Amino acid sequence: MYNSGVAGATANTLSGSRVFIYEVVGLGQPSVADQSNYPVRNSGSVFITVPYNRMNQEMQRIARLGGKILSIRPLNANNQQMQSGADSRPMTQMQAESVPAPTKAKTETDIPVNIYRPNNPYIGKCLHNEELVGEGGIGTVRHLIFDISGGDLRYLEGQSIGIIPPGVDKNGKPQKLRLYSIASTRHGDRVDDKTVSLCVRQLEYKHPETGEMVYGVCSTHLCNLEVGADVKITGPTGKEMLLPTDPDATAIMMATGTGIAPFRAYLWRMFKEAEKQANPDYQFKGLAWLIFGIPTSPNILYKQELEELQGQYPDNFRLTYAISREQKNAKGGRMYIQDRVAEHAAELWTLMQKEKTHTYICGLKGMEDGIDEALSAEAAKHGVDWKEYQRQMKRAGRWHVETY
Ligand SMILES: Cc1cc2nc3c(=O)[nH]c(=O)nc-3n(C[C@H](O)[C@H](O)[C@H](O)COP(=O)(O)OP(=O)(O)OC[C@H]3O[C@@H](n4cnc5c(N)ncnc54)[C@H](O)[C@@H]3O)c2cc1C
Ligand SMILES: NC(=O)c1ccc[n+]([C@@H]2O[C@H](COP(=O)([O-])OP(=O)(O)OC[C@H]3O[C@@H](n4cnc5c(N)ncnc54)[C@H](OP(=O)(O)O)[C@@H]3O)[C@@H](O)[C@H]2O)c1
Repeated sequence: MYNSGVAGATANTLSGSRVFIYEVVGLGQPSVADQSNYPVRNSGSVFITVPYNRMNQEMQRIARLGGKILSIRPLNANNQQMQSGADSRPMTQMQAESVPAPTKAKTETDIPVNIYRPNNPYIGKCLHNEELVGEGGIGTVRHLIFDISGGDLRYLEGQSIGIIPPGVDKNGKPQKLRLYSIASTRHGDRVDDKTVSLCVRQLEYKHPETGEMVYGVCSTHLCNLEVGADVKITGPTGKEMLLPTDPDATAIMMATGTGIAPFRAYLWRMFKEAEKQANPDYQFKGLAWLIFGIPTSPNILYKQELEELQGQYPDNFRLTYAISREQKNAKGGRMYIQDRVAEHAAELWTLMQKEKTHTYICGLKGMEDGIDEALSAEAAKHGVDWKEYQRQMKRAGRWHVETY
C-alpha cells in the first residue's frame, strides 16, 4: 500500500509501481486530518516518495498544508528528472510528462511466424470437433483440435493460424485464408506438442436484401469438419497478443464470444496441472482476471473448466461474466463487458498502475469504445488523461487489442 517516507527508505516497498520523489518546502503543521510525519531536512526541504497512482492526491495534500513542490523526479531514473518548482501548468499535464519512459515488457524472444504460407499450407487432420454452445444457447460454436505432428508448425499462446477453405470464391478464384485465434497452449490440448485448437463460431446472418440465411464459407467448413478430414493451415501469425514471460504478471482479459480463444490458451498455461509440469520455468503466481461477454448462459464457452479453475485458484483467477440477454446494466439495458468494466473501474485502474499488468481485449470491435469510456471516467477522477495513459501502456507493450 501507499506509504510516504524519506527518499530511498521506503521506495522499494512499493513493489511494481512507479515511484516519484517530491522535494517540498514550507509545509505547515499538519492538521488532525493530515497527520503524516514527513522527515524535514536542515535545508528546509522534505522528500516524499509517492507512487504514480497517488501523485494527484499527494499534490493536493501538500497544497492544503501550505507546502510548495520544488521538484518531482522518478526514483532511480537520473535522466528523467523533472524540475517543477515554478511550474504553473495544470497537474494533469505535469503528471503526464513526469511519467518515466515505460520499460518494455518481456515476452518470448523466439516468436514463430509464417512457417506455412498460403501457397504451401500445412495439411493437418481434424482430431476432434465438439459443440460448445449448450441447449437453449444462440448459434453454433465448435472446439476443434487438429493434428500437426507431421510438420514444423509451432506457435505461442495468443497467436493465430490461417485456414484455407476448399473451393472457389464468387470470381472462380481459390478461397482465401481466414484467420482464427489459437485456443490451445503451445503444447496443444494433449500437452504433447502435436496439436493446435480453435474455437469457431459459424457465421450466419440474414441477407439484408433477399432475407435469405447466409452461412460463412470458412466457419461453416470448420464447424462441419468430420474427424479424420484434412484441413489447410497457414501461419502462425501475430505478435500483439503474446503473454509476458513473467509468472508474477497480472493479466486483465476482456473477451466477447469466441474472443475467449487466446484467453483459454493463457489460462490453461497458467493453471492446468499438466501445463505446469511441462513448463518448469513458468509457474504462474500472478493474477488473471477474465471479463467475459456472452449473450446467454448456455453461450458461456468452456464454462465448466473456467469455473473449476476459478474454484481451484480463487486468489489467482477472477471470473466476471457479462451475460447480455439475461443481466441488466445500471441503466436497465443489456449487460455488456463495458458495463462490467465501469462497475469495477476503480479496481481495474489500480491494477493498471502496476508495471506488471497487461490488459488484453479480444472479440467484437464494438466493445472498445465502451471500455475506453468507462476507463476514461475513472482516469479523470485521478486527473489523468486516459488516451495518453493508454498510449503509454501500448508503448510499454501492456495494452493488447485484437478485435474486428
Ligand atoms: C485476428 C483474427 C482472429 C479471429 N479469430 C476468430 C476465432 O477465434 N473464432 C472465430 O469464430 N472467428 C475468428 N475470426 C473471424 C474469422 O477470421 C472469419 O472472419 C469468420 O469465421 C467468418 O469467416 P467465413 O468464411 O465464415 O465468412 P465469409 O464467407 O467470409 O463471410 C464474411 C462476410 O459476410 C458478410 N457479413 C458478415 N456478417 C454479416 C451481416 N450480419 N450482414 C451482412 N453481411 C455480413 C461480410 O461481407 C463479411 O465479410 C478472427 C478474425 C481475425 C481477423
Ligand atoms: N482476434 C479476433 O479478432 C477475434 C477472435 C475471436 C473472435 N472474433 C470475432 O469476434 C466476434 C465474437 O462474436 P461471437 O459470435 O463469438 O460472440 P457471441 O457469442 O455472439 O457474443 C458476443 C457478445 O458481445 C455482445 N456485444 C454485442 N455488441 C457489443 C458491443 N458493442 N459492445 C460490447 N458487447 C457487445 C453480444 O451481446 P448481444 O448480442 O446480446 O447484443 C454478446 O453478448 C465474432 O465476430 C468473431 O468472429 C475475433
